[in-house]
Amino acid sequence: MNTTLITGASSGIGTAFARKLAARGRNVFVVARSEDRLIALCNELGRSTSIRAQYLALDLQQLDAGSQLLEETNKRGLEIEMLINNAGFGSMGDFVKLDLNRELDMIQLNVRSLVDLTHRFLGPMRERKRGTIINVASTAGFQAVPYMATYAATKAFVLSFSEALWEENRLHGIHVMALCPGVTETNFFQASGMDRPPLRSIETPEEVVETALRALGRRKSTVISGWTNLFTVAAERFVPRSVVTKVAGKALRSRFEE
Ligand SMILES: NC(=O)c1ccc[n+]([C@@H]2O[C@H](COP(=O)([O-])OP(=O)(O)OC[C@H]3O[C@@H](n4cnc5c(N)ncnc54)[C@H](OP(=O)(O)O)[C@@H]3O)[C@@H](O)[C@H]2O)c1
Repeated sequence: MNTTLITGASSGIGTAFARKLAARGRNVFVVARSEDRLIALCNELGRSTSIRAQYLALDLQQLDAGSQLLEETNKRGLEIEMLINNAGFGSMGDFVKLDLNRELDMIQLNVRSLVDLTHRFLGPMRERKRGTIINVASTAGFQAVPYMATYAATKAFVLSFSEALWEENRLHGIHVMALCPGVTETNFFQASGMDRPPLRSIETPEEVVETALRALGRRKSTVISGWTNLFTVAAERFVPRSVVTKVAGKALRSRFEE
């Protein structure tokens, strides 16, 4: 059965992807840790659409999560035609004072798990000569972000990795795209232990997903969601990187240093 696999679908951007794609008639397989939320989402989609919605409660930080997920899709007879690597979290603060294990867990989820799932599901797509992979990066991936150092670096990885795979795969019928939202109204800031977003919220998850789905039609390698974010990233290209980093640092320093 042709299915879209969405990680981190129990809230925010992942839930919005599941709703929009189900409304367009795609079967979805949603994954996250919060089983109750996944059940509620699948029930909702089952009632409002004619698609098949399935879930798996799984902690993607586990080293064997990728193999478990692939095994589960095979057991259920699912053909993953679209993979959306969306699960992720962040942290904020003076790096030296942040909890090291949490920083390493973030790399594990935002980077290692994304590479793991991409590799496992890309192989069968290449055999079928069709498929789509959306990797959720961030506008934070375009620059260093002081006081969000590890998070921004994970998203720089996702951006670079996805752009390289876009080129490697586009002549094989497969579209890999990095989606770069800016500040979006989700649980992200709460889940990442931040008292408030670094900027005021400017987009809803639904707007981010609409942008992503439009960009798929244009076979883009990367899409930045939101005109303000697009303009900011474009303008930063004309300024030395050190200046961009200093400006970002100045905006957040007062929160973390006496
Ligand atoms: N919100 C923003 O401003 C913003 C901006 C740019 C990029 N992004 C990116 O957008 C993506 C989605 O975030 P969001 O904004 O929608 O935040 P969110 O509402 O906190 O959603 C994060 C999702 O990831 C899942 N997740 C977290 N840890 C997991 C784990 N160990 N295993 C499996 N699933 C896990 C969460 O589910 P469970 O807790 O149930 O596991 C949840 O479904 C992230 O990659 C984030 O970095 C967000």
